[in-house]
Amino acid sequence: MLLKNFFIGLSQNQLMNNMAQKYGFKLGAQSVVAGTNIEEMIESVKELNAVGISCTIDNLGEFVYQREEATKAKEQILDVIEAIYQNQVDAHISLKPTQLGLDIDYFFCLENLTEIVRKAHQYDIFVNVDMEDHTHKQPSFNLVDELAKEYDNVGTVIQSYFYRAEEDIKKYKDFRLRLVKGAYQEPEEVAFQDKKDIDRNLIKLIGYHLLHGKFTSIATHDHHIINHVKEFVKAHNISKEKFEFQMLYGFRKDLQFQLAKEGYKFCTYVPFGTDWYGYFMRRLAERPQNLNLMAKQVFNK
Ligand code: FDA
Repeated sequence: MLLKNFFIGLSQNQLMNNMAQKYGFKLGAQSVVAGTNIEEMIESVKELNAVGISCTIDNLGEFVYQREEATKAKEQILDVIEAIYQNQVDAHISLKPTQLGLDIDYFFCLENLTEIVRKAHQYDIFVNVDMEDHTHKQPSFNLVDELAKEYDNVGTVIQSYFYRAEEDIKKYKDFRLRLVKGAYQEPEEVAFQDKKDIDRNLIKLIGYHLLHGKFTSIATHDHHIINHVKEFVKAHNISKEKFEFQMLYGFRKDLQFQLAKEGYKFCTYVPFGTDWYGYFMRRLAERPQNLNLMAKQVFNK
């Protein structure tokens, strides 16, 4: 827990973030970040597509407080959509509302998101609105509600550590949803703290959405949850077309390939770009053993 808090603290440290940008600390981030530009990212996506894995692309960035920065992030995501279309790769978009100005002004953020979703809609590309910490949860759901009035290519995320997750999943059952445990440090007023409660709730949410909801993305590296899902879908005769597994780029690659080979739909979350610091630190907070993964990558080069 102490180590988790330490890395979460680092993930939100602006000074460290600036240092990482300025001095280009690589810290092994390249093992979990698919390049710093669109060309490198598209190459990674093509490699994954070649083994039957689709991708969701995250142009890294979050907690933006300047309008110009948010506008730049929007332009970059529009370029990613264009690149997906031009290269005809099997991929969609994941984005974070704070990257597009949620902390600056809700309506400014909505405008940015609308532009992205509109362009993606023209090319029949799905857009997932990622969920951040609890302070951004309700405004993010409000953004999703607004977008869904006009567009059907939008989905979002339910985090099982929140007490309210069950209520939320019922409200959003007609959406394509990604179900996760939750990556942020949350207070006990709003979220389960015990891993057992979080896991139990995730299993409950997955069962609910598989039976009653639209398409389900089960996003976890936890083989216990994955094995449970395999049994559950078999027992309930749920088609493999109704769900997919998702994992992050660079994590448990063997398991990713194996699941795809077994005929399950599989989607890899592909982050890329220069703003990798917060994302990278959260991965270390989730699993300090990830340091081993990074270390291997650095020293094997
Ligand atoms: P967890 O970290 O709980 O590990 C459980 C067990 O799985 C471990 O004890 C170990 O046995 C095994 N395991 C896990 N990782 C392993 C590894 N690398 N190698 C070997 N064994 C391993 N969060 C959020 O708040 N908002 C969001 O929008 C998203 N989006 C998102 C997309 C995708 C595609 C993924 C995979 C995850 C997210 N998350 C997220 C993050 C998510 O909430 C969660 O923090 C992480 O996935 C870590 O939890 P896990 O369920 O993966 O397993």
